[in-house]
Amino acid sequence: MGFKFISLFLLLLPLLTLTILSRADQALASDKKPHESHRNRTVLVSAGRVKIAALKGRKQTRECNLFQGRWVFDASYPFYDSSTCPFIDGEFDCLKFGRPDRQFLKYSWQPDSCTIPRFDGQAFLNKWRGKRVMFVGDSLSQNMWESLGCMIHASVPDTKTTFIKRTPVSSLIFQEYGVTIFLYRTPYLVDISKETVGRVLNLGTIEGGADVWKDMDILVFNSWHWWLHKGVELQGWDYIRTGSSLIRDMDRLDAFNKGLTTWAQWVDQNVNISQTRVFFQGISPTHYVGKEWNEPRDNCNGQMQPLSGSTYPGGSLPAASIVSRVLSSMKTPVYLLDITTLSQLRKDAHPSTYGAAGGSDCSHWCLPGLPDTWNQLLYAALSM
Ligand SMILES: *[C@@H]1O[C@H](CO)[C@@H](O)[C@H](O)[C@H]1NC(C)=O
Ligand SMILES: *[C@@H]1O[C@H](CO)[C@@H](O)[C@H](O)[C@H]1NC(C)=O
Repeated sequence: MGFKFISLFLLLLPLLTLTILSRADQALASDKKPHESHRNRTVLVSAGRVKIAALKGRKQTRECNLFQGRWVFDASYPFYDSSTCPFIDGEFDCLKFGRPDRQFLKYSWQPDSCTIPRFDGQAFLNKWRGKRVMFVGDSLSQNMWESLGCMIHASVPDTKTTFIKRTPVSSLIFQEYGVTIFLYRTPYLVDISKETVGRVLNLGTIEGGADVWKDMDILVFNSWHWWLHKGVELQGWDYIRTGSSLIRDMDRLDAFNKGLTTWAQWVDQNVNISQTRVFFQGISPTHYVGKEWNEPRDNCNGQMQPLSGSTYPGGSLPAASIVSRVLSSMKTPVYLLDITTLSQLRKDAHPSTYGAAGGSDCSHWCLPGLPDTWNQLLYAALSM
């Protein structure tokens, strides 16, 4: 699907160039945000030179794999202060829950062959004025949703917001811009129905919520973690319906593949791509098994540094291959935010014991923290 996007961009290049020039002017006008230092590209020289520099940067971005790179120390991070962001849930608010180290806040993602554009919340609100953005999925969607809210809020701290948390739809409205960022909670994307036998996970249908999704301007889907959950407490269903059979259980990757294929068909049949841009938030990894990074006695607890380099010793995730395969079979151009590997390198970025959830959480991520990078990449993809 990346290719479809790229060929579209090549076609639109003359038009893009104009947009880029006016962007460069905007960048110049607002050029003193905290993240300038690590970019070092838009130096305050004559406007002409800045335009050329920006153009070169764009060209690189277009040819660049944003998701291949490494983590570098960056003193200008994080994007915001957790105590001033009103949208962070306790389970992600690591500093509030006593995390003593700060180094994990100070890494920026550096792709090998380009620089990620600086996140500018005000520019985001202006560009998407009057529009609706929705994250659809599980608590990793919530993690990313709250991060985006905080990042925008940090750019425009005095703007009026309305924050409503409900099930299944929560919303954060930036009133002066008419921009709403929704969270739609549906961990499997496909339907769960309450029937006489109990809760049934329907691998072949998407009805709940789907009407709401159609009206969005930007959709960011995610699903995976719940497909693995087992046991009465954690598993969200009692039976699985696949085709016409009702079964007790099945291989979970198979089930995910079937459910995601149903989702893909829904998108192909229902999303109007001249109105809506569709993203898939890639598989978010966990760090419960230290063997994966050659520290067999460890998990994410007490980890204070990312892994160096660009590859994860524990290898790739089968669920991520399913995502790639399903997306590449779609006719709708869905942009994969391929955050799996870069997140695998961040064994230090989980709440571990410092979150409201208690226990040892090696699956969600602290805020500020890694999901801010996911949003920076979403922003980059939207600007390209
Ligand atoms: C920024 O660029 C200048 C001049 O090219 C260079 O001297 C300086 O070290 C750079 N700073 C960073 C943070 O890369
Ligand atoms: C898709 O959206 C565009 C722009 O809003 C609209 O003009 C067009 O009629 C829509 N197409 C369908 C099939 O709804």
